[in-house]
Amino acid sequence: MRLSDETLMDVSKRFRREMDRGLCRDTNPTASVKMLPTFVRSTPDGTEKGDFLALDLGGTNFRVLLVKVSDNGRQKVEMENQIYAIPEHLMRGSGTQLFDHIAECLANFMEKLGIKDRKLPLGFTFSFPCRQTKLDESLLVSWTKGFKCSSVEGHDVVALLRKAIRKRGDFDIDIVAVINDTVGTMMTCGYDDHNCEVGLIVGTGTNACYMEEMRHLETVEGDEGRMCVNMEWGAFGDNGELEDLRTEFDREIDCGSLNPGKQLFEKMISGMYMGELVRLILVKMAKEGYVFQGRVTSGLLTTGHFQTSFVSAIEKESADKVLRELGLDPSPEDCAATQRVCQVVSTRAAHLCAATLASVLRQIRDNKATDRMRTTVGVDGSVYKNHPQFARRLHKMVRRLVPDCDVRFLRSEDGSGKGAAMVTAVAYRLAMQHAE
Ligand code: GLC
Repeated sequence: MRLSDETLMDVSKRFRREMDRGLCRDTNPTASVKMLPTFVRSTPDGTEKGDFLALDLGGTNFRVLLVKVSDNGRQKVEMENQIYAIPEHLMRGSGTQLFDHIAECLANFMEKLGIKDRKLPLGFTFSFPCRQTKLDESLLVSWTKGFKCSSVEGHDVVALLRKAIRKRGDFDIDIVAVINDTVGTMMTCGYDDHNCEVGLIVGTGTNACYMEEMRHLETVEGDEGRMCVNMEWGAFGDNGELEDLRTEFDREIDCGSLNPGKQLFEKMISGMYMGELVRLILVKMAKEGYVFQGRVTSGLLTTGHFQTSFVSAIEKESADKVLRELGLDPSPEDCAATQRVCQVVSTRAAHLCAATLASVLRQIRDNKATDRMRTTVGVDGSVYKNHPQFARRLHKMVRRLVPDCDVRFLRSEDGSGKGAAMVTAVAYRLAMQHAE
């Protein structure tokens, strides 16, 4: 699991090839990295204003937000938000049930804030791969992470949401935009730093977006300007590009997942799988007698019991407490070994992300045809933000792989919520300008 700089450089080259294949019209249908057009062409210019609703589905929590953007002098953004639970049976039930639940949460939120009689513009952060033909039409390609609802794949999620709202008949809204969480992250960071042209998420899933030249994006008409591309890099490897690097543990994770054979890169990296990878390794080590005196407990043997937050806690302090909670009686050597396993798994994740991010940076540099480039990457996600070493290891490796780029990493403050509102605000501003 320890990857040399040469191997990472090689992964980066393979990924750059897949990016190209995703951008070109002829190879796109068979490319693993789909490079999906987002129809987001410009970042905020600071003159946006108004009240916007936002929905955020696909990360750790489902949330409804009210975002107030005002531009008296310096632009200000205020938010109210509410987290709602999505029970597991709804994550894997029927699409109708899921969208009815979303509409109900929205109704509850508007009721509470006393805004149910207003028809507000809404931005929907829907963090799954979608084919868009415009900002407010978005066909789900396939579910990823923990979701698998019937009759949504291949359908427009805006139409499904509108239908669920119309069926209730107690409120109305104007759905203006659907965006991916990576796009929201780039947009919110772009607000503070105009060099921001990449959005990165390392959370439950992993993915990135960046501003690409329209002339390279063959799947959309037109050659002028730039458009943000949702790469869906979690699917890298789905055509066998990572077979030499995947281990028995990666294969086991994949076999037991909701989407076998899919999102293979994501499964080596993101928070939904990191703890489970560590658990599988520890189980094997215990069974072979290397740790815990060869003993396993039901706590250690239960799928999903070893959460990714444990990996963070163990690397921050020690493994003792976590292992005891799993019913084990660890020696100091067992604790040291467990900590080492966590380090190896989380370092591999950070380095793999660095390899693909390096390809994105090279692509942007080549587009600009400069030798030295300055750029900013907006980042969000529970692994990036909560793991004690992940961000540092990622930054360090990116700088080693692309020494000729000045990269700034900017943590996004609530990218997926605020971002959806920002995209909606920009779309609104442009629509108003056209109307004038
Ligand atoms: C998964 C989704 C992708 C999202 C990422 C991070 O990879 O397919 O759309 O951006 O998770 O949430």
